[in-house]
Amino acid sequence: MIAYGFSEYGGPETESLLDLPIAEPGSGQILVAVHAAGVNPADWKVRAGNRKDTVQITLPAVLGREVSGTVVGAGSGVAEFSVGDEVFGATASGYGGYAQYTVLNASSTAHKPDSVSWAAAATLPVAAGTAYDSLRGLALVSGNTLLVLGAGGGVGSSVLQLARADDIDVLAVASPGKREWIESLGAEFVAAGPDYVHSLSRPVHGIVDLVGGDTLRAAASNVHSGTPIVSVADPTLAARWGGSGAQRDRTTAAFTRLADLVTNGVLRPRIDHVFPLDRAGEALALVENGHALGKVVVEVR
Ligand SMILES: NC(=O)c1ccc[n+]([C@@H]2O[C@H](COP(=O)([O-])OP(=O)(O)OC[C@H]3O[C@@H](n4cnc5c(N)ncnc54)[C@H](OP(=O)(O)O)[C@@H]3O)[C@@H](O)[C@H]2O)c1
Repeated sequence: MIAYGFSEYGGPETESLLDLPIAEPGSGQILVAVHAAGVNPADWKVRAGNRKDTVQITLPAVLGREVSGTVVGAGSGVAEFSVGDEVFGATASGYGGYAQYTVLNASSTAHKPDSVSWAAAATLPVAAGTAYDSLRGLALVSGNTLLVLGAGGGVGSSVLQLARADDIDVLAVASPGKREWIESLGAEFVAAGPDYVHSLSRPVHGIVDLVGGDTLRAAASNVHSGTPIVSVADPTLAARWGGSGAQRDRTTAAFTRLADLVTNGVLRPRIDHVFPLDRAGEALALVENGHALGKVVVEVR
């Protein structure tokens, strides 16, 4: 099969198309013919070697952590999925998503409803799932105000939609090109920049941080002490103010709930760029550049 990955840790120059054998799914796993793969910052962070402690790979490694596709094989002990089922999920440890075939753990796979496109389904496990889990971690209620740092990217665009659906007011920090779209979701736009905290129109009850660094420092030092913070960009920095990363739920139940939210119109994954597999490098470069609007997807078939 054809896949896109990297042969050693490093920059984009380590990436290439790979010709690899199709894997055999193990116990509790399914083999999927990939239709679409979501592209995430985690993909280049793994390639750069930033995740060596937590993400086990064998070189050459295939990039990507989430896919939608059709089941073409199953290992022992898989009762929930059959050959021909249309599914989406997070790739199993040691497998990547930018590929014609990949392996998923059945426990991290859900059926794809007909009403959810292949591309949209491929963006649910990482970005939408992180958005859902981040909001759940803050436990805000209707009428609270949420501050979102990096609101116009893959995770932020889902955070905004999910928060507004729960009647949570949102102050959304993003670059000016994203203003119109942010306001169309019913959030209040706050222009990103060194002084953005002085533009916050009201006190906030919680922060979702998707940027880290000085952007998080400025927010955390200016809100009321004890304001809950979830930062998936820099959990270690957030811990200085009592914050944490998101407690991720990558189960079939969690992914099914996300698909239901799309079916019900609560969540509308915004996909701005779709690249074929042989141009996956351009897709990842767009995300690595750090200013994508919505999601970037690799379309495989
Ligand atoms: N732990 C997990 O499970 C998990 C899961 C998903 C993501 N993450 C992490 O969460 C972060 C965000 O992921 P993502 O998928 O949303 O990335 P993304 O799609 O690249 O979005 C990042 C957003 O931040 C904006 N941004 C950059 N600098 C900013 C600044 N100074 N002020 C305000 N906005 C700024 C970017 O665009 P503009 O500057 O153009 O507005 C972009 O919209 C990444 O660090 C990623 O690794 C962690």
